[in-house]
Amino acid sequence: MFCLTSATDPGWAPRAAERLDLVLVDHAHCEMKAASSALALAGRAVWAPSIVRPLVALAQEELAHFDQVLVELERRGLELGAPPVDDYAVALLRNVQGPKGGRERMVDRLLAGALIEARSCERFKLLAEALDTRGEHEQAVFYRALMASEARHYSVLRQLAIDVGGDEPKTLGRLAELAEVEGTLNRSLGVAPAIHG
Ligand SMILES: [Fe+2]
Ligand SMILES: [Fe+2]
Repeated sequence: MFCLTSATDPGWAPRAAERLDLVLVDHAHCEMKAASSALALAGRAVWAPSIVRPLVALAQEELAHFDQVLVELERRGLELGAPPVDDYAVALLRNVQGPKGGRERMVDRLLAGALIEARSCERFKLLAEALDTRGEHEQAVFYRALMASEARHYSVLRQLAIDVGGDEPKTLGRLAELAEVEGTLNRSLGVAPAIHG
């Protein structure tokens, strides 16, 4: 899917569908982090003003997703709790290169974000299928709608990286490099009931 270089372990989706309570808590934090990271990038993009408003729009949409998941948590009597450490995202972001505040670093951050969106899209699709299998169609519809948003976010972040980089082949080459890193990280993940479990 998209530029992903490895598929999620087939054991993940049934496990995640079975413990949707745990997935939803983790998912809420992921949406919140996606909103914060889009805003953080917007605040650092002073020398690339054209990307500020698309990033603010992205942050707004992620915030709306955060709220949607919070409503679902409330409906199920679940608490948000403290943010879990996302080893996958931390490890991927460790590969971001370039001096702080520089163009290269901004391109890498946008590309890493695009890959996280692509992975979420793949996983929401798998989760929706597993939920349908269990007869939980309402939840499947919820995850299918979010899957479509993640696909769009992937395209937006990829395009912003190309715009900021100013050299499409070079930026796409870097995307391919980071996709290899992401694919290896994905293969090392287990089947824990978490978005990047
Ligand atoms: Fe989202
Ligand atoms: Fe997203």
